Amino acid sequence: MIPAAFPLASRFPALGTTIFTVMSRLAAECGAVNLSQGFPDFQAEPALFDAVHRAMAAGRNQYAPMAGMPELRTAIAAKVATLYGIAYDVESEITVTAGATQALFTAIAACVGPGDEVIVFEPVYDSYGPAVTTVGGRVRHSRLGVPGYRPDWDHVASLINPRTRLIIVNSPHNPSGSLLSVGDLDALADLVRDTGIVILSDEVYEHIAFSAPHASLCAHPELAARSLVVSSFGKTYHITGWKVGYVVAPSTLTAEFRKVHQFNVFTVNTPAQLGIAEYMADPARHLGLAAFYREKRDRFRQLLAATRFELLPCDGTYFQLARYDAISDLPDRAFAEWLARRIGVAAIPLSAFYHDGHDDHVVRFCFAKEDATLVEAARRLQALNPGAPVESRP
Ligand SMILES: Cc1ncc(COP(=O)(O)O)c(C=O)c1O
Repeated sequence: MIPAAFPLASRFPALGTTIFTVMSRLAAECGAVNLSQGFPDFQAEPALFDAVHRAMAAGRNQYAPMAGMPELRTAIAAKVATLYGIAYDVESEITVTAGATQALFTAIAACVGPGDEVIVFEPVYDSYGPAVTTVGGRVRHSRLGVPGYRPDWDHVASLINPRTRLIIVNSPHNPSGSLLSVGDLDALADLVRDTGIVILSDEVYEHIAFSAPHASLCAHPELAARSLVVSSFGKTYHITGWKVGYVVAPSTLTAEFRKVHQFNVFTVNTPAQLGIAEYMADPARHLGLAAFYREKRDRFRQLLAATRFELLPCDGTYFQLARYDAISDLPDRAFAEWLARRIGVAAIPLSAFYHDGHDDHVVRFCFAKEDATLVEAARRLQALNPGAPVESRP
């Protein structure tokens, strides 16, 4: 250990380590089946790796253009046009990013200044708030209604004021698995019409919608004209570790986005971009994702049906929420820790997605796992069934 020359006064004393890191570490430490962090435990297809290898072997290993490889931007433009009926310009409206996280941070930094307000919906993905405060903005929270995790547009309207700069939406929604409908998008459009409010739409689970087609902001012409829409190849192609995503936005917004992008990452891994571009040529690979995860969702729900967890609806994403009131009255963080240590299954306590630690006694399981992993997790969770030995009770 190197001795520190002086104590650094933290700019973010309230920020700790993300719950995802904490739970994954705990899972490793106590040998728990890790259904906490949102990543698959199965492989992507060899065709994707072959495409990246080919790019590397062909010497495509130097800096990509700042906006991303033209091959990938062209493939993104084609996919978005086919799915959502909008033609983003390859040169001026599509930017490849180092995953969705960088796209979100960069978009926030590009749009939000000191004193500006940003509306987010709780439970909220954990990166938005810290990104807003890092650039001096203020987060305003609108709580999604339980059950169903639906937005309350009247409440959102009450938060809007002249300082409101950005509204961040996320559908399919992590952690709840709920979907925004076209009606929700219309309600949002009504609220921001005649304002200078920008919308940042996190659509990393765009291809994992079960109960209705994904309502992308790209497909809503009025909103698309004021939105930055973010997606991630990590979620779509089972390669979360590659950290490649993208943002599409009208050229005026893209120009502002790129002013920040060019100085915080400049460019993204070249061979990975080329490999993904080639792999995208077969649309079945992203169009088949919903059916693939629907099967996993149904299997996981069926495996947990006999436990005392109350399974909440899951209309999209690869997360299943479960209420545990019938098992324990512990607060959710304590329950999740107990579940990992004593039962051997790691989950995320939902209070981690609320700024004030709001606790509905709900945990989030990730079912982007091999069937064998889900079966083993369910086997361990059977210890919580009615009639199970008392020593396994919290
Ligand atoms: C809602 C949401 N947005 C963004 C991300 C980050 O995506 P990426 O890994 O591409 O940075 C995640 C990852 O879990 C997510 O769930």
